[in-house]
Formats: sequence, C-alpha cells, structure tokens
Amino acid sequence: MNSLPSEHESRITIQGVEIALGFPDEFPFKWIGQRDVLEQLLAAWLVIDENDIPLNPRLIGKPGVGKTTLAYAAAKSLGKQVYIFQCTMDTRPEDLLITPVIDTSGGIRYVASALVTAMLRGEVCILDEANRMSEKSWASLAPLLDARRYIESIVAGLKINAHPEFRICVTMNDDASTFEIPEYIHSRLQPQIYLDFPEADEERRILKENLPFVDEEILQYVVAFLQRAHNRNESYTIRDGINIARYAAKRIRSLQANKIDQIDTESLLRQAVVMTLGDEALSYVI
Ligand SMILES: Nc1ncnc2c1ncn2[C@@H]1O[C@H](COP(=O)(O)OP(=O)(O)OP(=O)(O)O)[C@@H](O)[C@H]1O
Ligand SMILES: [Mg+2]
Repeated sequence: MNSLPSEHESRITIQGVEIALGFPDEFPFKWIGQRDVLEQLLAAWLVIDENDIPLNPRLIGKPGVGKTTLAYAAAKSLGKQVYIFQCTMDTRPEDLLITPVIDTSGGIRYVASALVTAMLRGEVCILDEANRMSEKSWASLAPLLDARRYIESIVAGLKINAHPEFRICVTMNDDASTFEIPEYIHSRLQPQIYLDFPEADEERRILKENLPFVDEEILQYVVAFLQRAHNRNESYTIRDGINIARYAAKRIRSLQANKIDQIDTESLLRQAVVMTLGDEALSYVI
C-alpha cells in the first residue's frame, strides 16, 4: 500500500520517489431535478460488501446537457473532494498519471495528475470528455478500471494503488468528435448512464439556479424556446439557454446604463438567440 497523504499535504513520497499532488476543483455547482440519474450514479459508487468494489460509471449525453455538473454534484453530496481531468485528443498516458518536470535546480520533479491525486487521497476523479482520448491513453487506465485498482507510471517507475475510498466517473459526448474506444475499456466503464433534456419546470429551475439575477420574463422565454427545440430533437442545450439569457440580461443592463428608456426585451431576446445559435434557431421562437 502507498503511504496516504492527508488532505492538506501537497507532496508525498512513494517507494522513495517524491511526488507533488494536485488541488481539488471547487465550484458552486448544484444538481437540480432528475433524481433518477443522480441515484444511478451514487449506486454505482456504493460498496455493499467487504469483497465488493465500486463501479466506474459513464455519463453519456449531448454537449451541455449537465454531465459534468451531475458528476460533480454527486461527489459533493458524499462530502468528497473532486478532481476534474479534462481529456483531449492530445492527452498522453503520462499526463493522465505522473509527469516529470524540470525544477529550478535542474533536477527532475514528479507531479501527480488530478486522477492520481484523487487515487492517493481517496477522493473523486471526473475524467471529463473522455471520448476525446486516444486508445494509447486508455490502455494506461486498464488496471485501474478493473478489480486491480492500480496504475503503473512508467515515467516515475511506480505502481500506485487506489485508496479504497477512491471513485471515478467518466463523461462522454455522444457527438462525432471522438476516437473509437476499445472494447476492453468499454467493458470497464459500466454502467452507462444516459442524460436527457429536462422537463420545462426543471429547466426553468436550472436557469434560475445559474442566473438568479436575471428577470423571470427572460427565463420563461428561454425555457419556452429550449422546450420547443428539445421537442423537435434539436441539440440546443441548457448551456445555450444560459448564454442566451445571460447575454439578453447584459444587453438590457447596458442599454439602461446608457439611459435608453424604450427597451424592447423581446427583440433583444431574439437577437440573443441569433447571436448565440444562428438564424436557424429563430424557428423555435414564437
Ligand atoms: N440538472 C442540472 N442542474 C443544475 N445545472 C444544470 C443541470 N443541467 C445542466 N445544468 C447547467 O447547464 C450547463 C451545462 O452543464 P454541464 O457543463 O454539466 O454539461 P455537460 O453535459 O458536461 O456539457 P459538455 O458535454 O459540453 O461538457 C451548466 O451551466 C450547468 O450548471
Ligand atoms: Mg462537461
């Protein structure tokens, strides 16, 4: 077993090698509505027997549907710290695990990724937009994602066990900008939890939570717009809605500051829709 660092320690020595640890992500994210997906995720992380291990759930859905928010809020509801690793096409195995950096004295220092920091501290790692990662990087995670629960850093020459309290969640877009994930990784990222668009009332509460300072009239307009788009299977999401409402509110504030009395909120909202999503989005506006 590795010697376990306390929450505040920023470095740790494993098998004689000193490693600098990362910092957790702190956001005020709250999950609103859709209790079923939250329950599904928390159940996957449960350990129900001394011979049991947690599962490694995968959150799947369109961009902006709430995957990262759900994973973050679920972890926080367990009182855990969250370490988000943003995956890209260029993520290399060592980026995922441990990177060597040259320090000021010319020596080599080892730095743990968000993932390895969470593994050592027994906290939660979100591998965000993991579908962007190449097979080579996935391969380095194979032993972590099965009953072995360890990683091997070739760079630092170390094998690192995950703390029993460590949990991982992977988010993936179902758009096309992805690598094919190899089958042996698919089978290690279960269960698959699908996120869909929220109902109108939930969507209004989500907008309100994100934009408590924006007028109800604007929020209602945006919810009506989004719901019409969802019903016609258009992929506009809550993030788009938040951007539209935020921009319209800023335009209104800016015109007020310039002492312009006649403010046509509706036409500003239409403009915000076009400037966020393009002309074609107007077909979802009343
Ligand atoms: N159920 C929800 N409760 C609270 N906020 C939500 C919810 N669903 C979506 N949001 C809000 O919508 C926005 C987009 O959510 P998020 O970033 O989690 O989506 P995502 O699916 O991870 O998107 P991407 O695929 O682009 O990474 C955020 O501002 C988030 O706060
Ligand atoms: Mg995300």
